[in-house]
Amino acid sequence: MSNSAQSATTSDGVLPRFVGVLGGGRMGAGIAHAFLIKGADVLVVERDEQSAEAARERVESAAAKSIERGAVDGNLDEMVSRLAVSVDYDDFKDRQLVVEAVPEDWDLKVASLRGLEERLADDAYLASNTSSLSVNGLARELGRPQNFLGLHFFNPVPASTLIEVVLGEQTSDAVAAAARGWVEALGKTAVVVNDAPGFASSRLGVAIALEAMRMVEEGVASAEDIDNAMVLGYKHPTGPLRTTDIVGLDVRLGIAEYLASTLGDRFAPPQILRDKVARGELGRKTGKGFFDWNG
Ligand SMILES: NC(=O)c1ccc[n+]([C@@H]2O[C@H](COP(=O)([O-])OP(=O)(O)OC[C@H]3O[C@@H](n4cnc5c(N)ncnc54)[C@H](O)[C@@H]3O)[C@@H](O)[C@H]2O)c1
Repeated sequence: MSNSAQSATTSDGVLPRFVGVLGGGRMGAGIAHAFLIKGADVLVVERDEQSAEAARERVESAAAKSIERGAVDGNLDEMVSRLAVSVDYDDFKDRQLVVEAVPEDWDLKVASLRGLEERLADDAYLASNTSSLSVNGLARELGRPQNFLGLHFFNPVPASTLIEVVLGEQTSDAVAAAARGWVEALGKTAVVVNDAPGFASSRLGVAIALEAMRMVEEGVASAEDIDNAMVLGYKHPTGPLRTTDIVGLDVRLGIAEYLASTLGDRFAPPQILRDKVARGELGRKTGKGFFDWNG
């Protein structure tokens, strides 16, 4: 469908009506839920049938919870009738906006984005939920970089009010303006960033977390006390080390390595982080990181 589709919008008049999400994992399901509860028709494409059904369950259960909590006004059956899952990229052909949320792997992202672009109308929007890869670099792999941008949702998507809108050098002004409108229509706040390693959030979040780890390493204070300094002193809702445990030490190590390679040694991962990852102390998901999560 060509974007005559651009005029097909949800009742708020801002969100595209036909939205796609590639990869219905933790983030993709959250992104699908965000558009679904605001009235869009959402298609999630997964790599196999089992993952597609799991994605459907995640989105449906999130929608049910939002209604139960009273966070969303609406009827679950009606909402669910606007959700489809598939394993076929061709099903994206009528989508006006597709958000890619496959795992953070360069080759996989490039292959996925190219596969999407091939199927989409010339004026459809394409976004990546990458948390660390270069939006400009990804754009260079595409035929229509003017339609491409980063939409960095935060985890868990329903509870987070922030979306980083990451503009590539070639992202058109019209696409940038449209993206600001989508974020507002989703009931969230946009932070607009010109593509740079770590965008705004990861760069600052990782910088403070790495310093906190060095302080533990040097015996300056305990993890608990370092976190309390930020929670009580600076009103951060969660300290940098507990946040690291929640995100995953392996994830943070990967981002720190990438930032060190692009922005320099100030992001070099401390040895304590490497050691903990090597021991499998990955944070909440393994029961131990900088804190003990068992029980
Ligand atoms: N988890 C977070 O806290 C977080 C936060 C912000 C951004 N991100 C970014 O979001 C993206 C997804 O992360 P996630 O945590 O949701 O990962 P995840 O592993 O939970 O989900 C990825 C999904 O993609 C699917 N998938 C893999 N290959 C596919 C393919 N070829 N085609 C279709 N689907 C495919 C998998 O089956 C899985 O369901 C990554 O780029 C990540 O960096 C993650």
